[in-house]
Amino acid sequence: MMLHRLIAAIFFIALMLVSVTTINAQSVRPPGNAVNQSTDEQIGTSNTLGPDSQSKYWHDLRQGKSGLSTTGRSGGLLIQAQGEQWRLIRKNYIIKYSGWVLAAVLVILVLFFLIRGKIRLKGGRSGQTISRFSLPHRTAHWFMASIFIMLGLSGLILLLGRTALAPLIGKNVYSIFASAAMQGHNLFGPLFIVALVWMYYLFVPGNFFKMVDLKWILKGGGLIGGHASAGHYNFGEKVWFWAVAIVGLLISITGIILEFPWLSANLQLLQISTIVHAIGAVGLIAFALGHIYIGTIGMEGALDSMTTGDVDVNWAKEHHDLWYEEVTGEKSATHDQGETGHAQVYSQDKITGV
Ligand code: HEM
Repeated sequence: MMLHRLIAAIFFIALMLVSVTTINAQSVRPPGNAVNQSTDEQIGTSNTLGPDSQSKYWHDLRQGKSGLSTTGRSGGLLIQAQGEQWRLIRKNYIIKYSGWVLAAVLVILVLFFLIRGKIRLKGGRSGQTISRFSLPHRTAHWFMASIFIMLGLSGLILLLGRTALAPLIGKNVYSIFASAAMQGHNLFGPLFIVALVWMYYLFVPGNFFKMVDLKWILKGGGLIGGHASAGHYNFGEKVWFWAVAIVGLLISITGIILEFPWLSANLQLLQISTIVHAIGAVGLIAFALGHIYIGTIGMEGALDSMTTGDVDVNWAKEHHDLWYEEVTGEKSATHDQGETGHAQVYSQDKITGV
């Protein structure tokens, strides 16, 4: 208990530190009074400078030589050449492949559903339930899920809208969508950090990896090699949890840098932040699609744990046998003698008839 509180505190402090270190920084934009020092006098009446030609100025500007513009918060830098590289990476890789990655995940999920179908309860519903998630756990989960969905939708409109939406709905209508998406994204971004810390704090117990996870992997989570034992969370859920925690932290840090650009130290940091933010977000959205699939149409009885807080006893035995044994003290027929599951503080040791 102490350990996970400590980790939660470190997690939170790290987030705050990174935000604070970006203070004392410069503006993204060149200062209003930034001017090229080329004057009429320098250029001369024939518009040439001889050895001091404009191409030399242009070359120096592109190399980021300072002193060509008045110094200000951007350190005399008028043109940052890496901006072009950043624009090309964003256009040719991030925007191009993000759409394909998400489309591929959707296709894989549809194919999986068509081939495998819904994972049914082998023993059917028993009519008895066991408590799995407390109200605070469910509230934290749905708070995170709502914020994440709002951020995901608005973020994708901003990232892919100009390519995928504007040609369909027209530039004028798209500009309204984009502006609403920007406002929504800026509003929900900081709330994501609150949801992340809250969720991390409540869900970290039980999500540390154990030997039983190795057996679960070797059995492909039960898809190959028969029943795979699991404690409160199986390996797949643990990976999902840590993906949300770690990638969520990265997205939060880069999001703060982007939402408050006047705090950031330099342009390159902002450019790297947009790239890391987009890759992390698209990766997490792709993972979330799989999570939402398995939590809804993919597996019979799974959603109950996040709606009512209770799951059917047969669901507990079939998918989390070690946890079931830990909570009830009763042997589950599916048990494959793995490591004992992790007892949760919120497991209320109760089975209820319905
Ligand atoms: C409509 C969307 C969603 C549905 C239907 C859903 C459903 C579920 C369900 C049923 C569980 C419990 C699984 C179990 O009992 O073992 C769960 C757990 C969880 N969900 Fe979601 N979820 C959704 C969205 C999200 C989103 C957007 C996030 C985060 C960005 C998220 C993060 C988690 C985490 C971290 C867990 C706990 C897994 C663990 O700790 O290992 N969920 N979800």
